[in-house]
Amino acid sequence: MNELQFIAERLLAQINSASALQELETLRVQALGKQGEISNLMKNLGSLSPEERKERGALLNALRDQITTSLEEKKEILEAAQLQERLEKEKIDITLPARPQVLGTIHPISQVMYEMIAIFRNMGFSVAEGPDIEEDFYNFTALNIPLEHPARQDHDTFYLPALDEGTERRVLRTHTSPVQIRSMLKKKAPLRIIAPGRVYRSDYDATHTPTFHQIEGLYVAEGVHMGHLKACLQTFCEQMFNQPQLPLRFRPAYFPFTEPSAEIDIACYRKEGQLIVGPGQDWLEILGCGMIHPKVLENCGIDSTKYQGFAFGMGIERVAMLKYGIPDLRSFYEADLRWLRHYGFSAFEALMEGTSE
Ligand code: PHE
Repeated sequence: MNELQFIAERLLAQINSASALQELETLRVQALGKQGEISNLMKNLGSLSPEERKERGALLNALRDQITTSLEEKKEILEAAQLQERLEKEKIDITLPARPQVLGTIHPISQVMYEMIAIFRNMGFSVAEGPDIEEDFYNFTALNIPLEHPARQDHDTFYLPALDEGTERRVLRTHTSPVQIRSMLKKKAPLRIIAPGRVYRSDYDATHTPTFHQIEGLYVAEGVHMGHLKACLQTFCEQMFNQPQLPLRFRPAYFPFTEPSAEIDIACYRKEGQLIVGPGQDWLEILGCGMIHPKVLENCGIDSTKYQGFAFGMGIERVAMLKYGIPDLRSFYEADLRWLRHYGFSAFEALMEGTSE
């Protein structure tokens, strides 16, 4: 065996037995680095005769290529082994159960909101949003409630100080209806949106809290009439309470921004002190609605001779109480863990649909 074959055998054996990437790198430097064994042999070529140099040069090149290839192959093997080891060591056991003591629940208000959004989404509504701190114009004036209108007194409004002298004071929105105005001004007609969100009124007793939630609905198109409003809300109530042919009662009512206006009651009855939804002797009001007042359409730059629309507004807590048998409104906001565990929904089962437009 000549000298170069001997070197090749030795290096290949060393490479073969390397068990770590670092070890392989050391071998590479020792053989092919600037001061490496093969590099040094190549440097000596200069002292040979042209004939010898050609022959030995070719052999050295072959040796270098052989060692380079061998190093690369071994490197791939070691890297694969290292990855495999990491994969095994860092494996997560996804079958591990969550620790029940740190498991949160979906609040009934969120749950009911998701359910409502899902139902209206199926009817082609998309979700719109507006700010909680609202300008007087959107909350009142554009909705046909001018400054001295008595309807303003019904709302127990929280007013914020004016930002600058001469600017209008802002309010915490008293209903989700300002989102009607914002959506119509921005998108014009036709339009089909719902707007769930938080609203505020200065009122606190067994059936009122200063913060509560509403969902607003708005449908503007050509030729819309009360029949559409009725069908839409009848379908909604039946699906929300899982009751086909749930009796509804449309009572005439007054809202400055709709004409005609109505309030809708759903049929219910009492059993062992609890209110249950379904055909019975009692009625319970659950929402306000009506055909959008032409003045409101015009305030938003929509031609009221061409387009009509209906709107409705509904309290979310009221529906949650009815659907899930929650007796006390105030308990929604007390953050009592026992209550949340009892009435909350599992995050795995909750119907998650809340995406914005
Ligand atoms: N904004 C009204 C309220 O808060 C409800 C409503 C909305 C009525 C839309 C008619 C149309 O009482």
